[in-house]
Amino acid sequence: MSTAISPTAYNYKVVRQFAIMTVIWGVVGMSLGVLIASQLVWPELNLGLPWTSFGRLRPLHTNAVIFAFGGCALMATSFYVVQRTCQARLFGGPLASFVFWGWQAVIVLAAITLPLGFTSSKEYAELEWPIDILLTIVWVSYAVVFFGTVMKRQTKHIYVGNWFFGAFILVTAMLHLVNNMEVPVTLTKSYSMYSGATDAMIQWWYGHNAVGFFLTTGFLGMMYYFVPKQAGRPVYSYRLSIVHFWALITLYIWAGPHHLHYTALPDWAQSLGMVMSLILLAPSWGGMINGMMTLSGAWHKLRHDPILRFLVVSLAFYGMSTFEGPMMAIKTVNALSHYTDWTIGHVHAGALGWVAMVSIGSLYHLIPKVFAREQMHSIGLINAHFWLATIGTVLYIASMWVNGIAQGLMWRAVNEDGTLTYSFVEALEASHPGFIVRAIGGAFFLIGMLLMAYNTWRTVRVAKQAEIEAAEKFVVEGAH
Ligand code: HEM
Ligand code: HEM
Repeated sequence: MSTAISPTAYNYKVVRQFAIMTVIWGVVGMSLGVLIASQLVWPELNLGLPWTSFGRLRPLHTNAVIFAFGGCALMATSFYVVQRTCQARLFGGPLASFVFWGWQAVIVLAAITLPLGFTSSKEYAELEWPIDILLTIVWVSYAVVFFGTVMKRQTKHIYVGNWFFGAFILVTAMLHLVNNMEVPVTLTKSYSMYSGATDAMIQWWYGHNAVGFFLTTGFLGMMYYFVPKQAGRPVYSYRLSIVHFWALITLYIWAGPHHLHYTALPDWAQSLGMVMSLILLAPSWGGMINGMMTLSGAWHKLRHDPILRFLVVSLAFYGMSTFEGPMMAIKTVNALSHYTDWTIGHVHAGALGWVAMVSIGSLYHLIPKVFAREQMHSIGLINAHFWLATIGTVLYIASMWVNGIAQGLMWRAVNEDGTLTYSFVEALEASHPGFIVRAIGGAFFLIGMLLMAYNTWRTVRVAKQAEIEAAEKFVVEGAH
């Protein structure tokens, strides 16, 4: 078998664009996080204006971090990984560029409409119908580019990372279409096609699978490529990765009702959601162990490589949040945790510890590659970022555990005569110190992101066009 430089080249331009926007949206979304966390400490920061109030900025934060930061990270890495592992240029020519600009347009429209108060009121699906339609067009184009590239691959098999990316793309499309079935009344207002308990069920089928397929499956695709690459070792068990894939996608889809315990949802549906959530622990940990064990024989690299540390610690947080989640899905535990800050802590164990850290680690690996640099401008800054992110996440989660359990216990405490021991405001006052610690933890995480933005700027500033073009050429095994 001979090796030759192919006349064709990877499309890294779109990867570079998405990578840079990941960093920018990360800074924006997390700044909003720190702002709303501070509003809970100092309510004056709501500024007395409707569009800067907590209620409007909160969905702006969730959309910015999940869809802008997380979405751009997923698109950057999936477009990079699918080309590298399929040995093929992205399918569809200018369509990839349309995906980039279309996605940015959706984000900008969200940033304008949400503070103005235009919302469908469905969590994580707040955008109104015209933006939903644009999003559908962009997402279908994304699917065409991704699967088109898989179809024209020059490798025999489809690397497991692409299976995860593929499932994330397909299921997200299905969730978006089903949950956003709505009747438009005006350009900026629509009503859900579903009502009552059915609406709630569809919403949390969507909500939970947004977590399962957007915030988990896609990032597992990232994990399956970047952990072995950075560790310089093959995936621990390819067979386990296949079992992991099928078990995860089969189980996740059933667990939504754990968001609706003790509601008007039929009892059997709640119990089914609880049981499926408990079983979900197995594939989640299978995946985590597969990632961790990939480091066998390479653990010493952790001492010098902060990028690998990001990736490994993200897996540890993934393991932690996927243990906590099934526990919270048990009805009796949920009776305590639901509506409290415990849920918020769980969310950010997954969001900061897993989603953000695996993305950051992967980007530190990817950015120098697509800008034809040997490595990031400063490894010391990556190390500082790692500690800020880890300490920030721990402060966030620990304060929310304390708050959550205190709130749950205070709300349910009753006196001998059956009256409540504490008023709601007393529980809120008891939460104040935790809110302060959370805001500090968030600020730590944000400062880390600012270091990343600076480090990225210094890295790409010195990139040379000729070198970039040379790096885009790919080596095809077996070509003549
Ligand atoms: C600097 C980092 C961050 C800070 C300070 C922060 C802060 C916050 C705050 C204060 C809330 C509202 C909590 C409440 O209503 O009581 C929130 C909600 C939320 N954040 Fe963050 N956040 C950060 C990063 C992220 C990231 C990176 C993600 C996702 C990748 C994320 C996802 C979410 C989600 C999904 C919710 C809604 C949770 C729920 O409704 O249960 N956050 N965040
Ligand atoms: C086996 C895995 C998991 C299970 C079984 C699980 C289970 C749960 C449960 C029971 C709740 C609380 C529902 C409530 O009382 O309202 C919850 C909330 C949540 N979880 Fe998980 N979780 C898992 C993993 C994750 C991961 C890895 C992430 C993030 C990347 C995540 C993100 C969220 C979010 C965003 C919410 C809040 C939804 C909302 O109310 O707005 N979960 N999860």
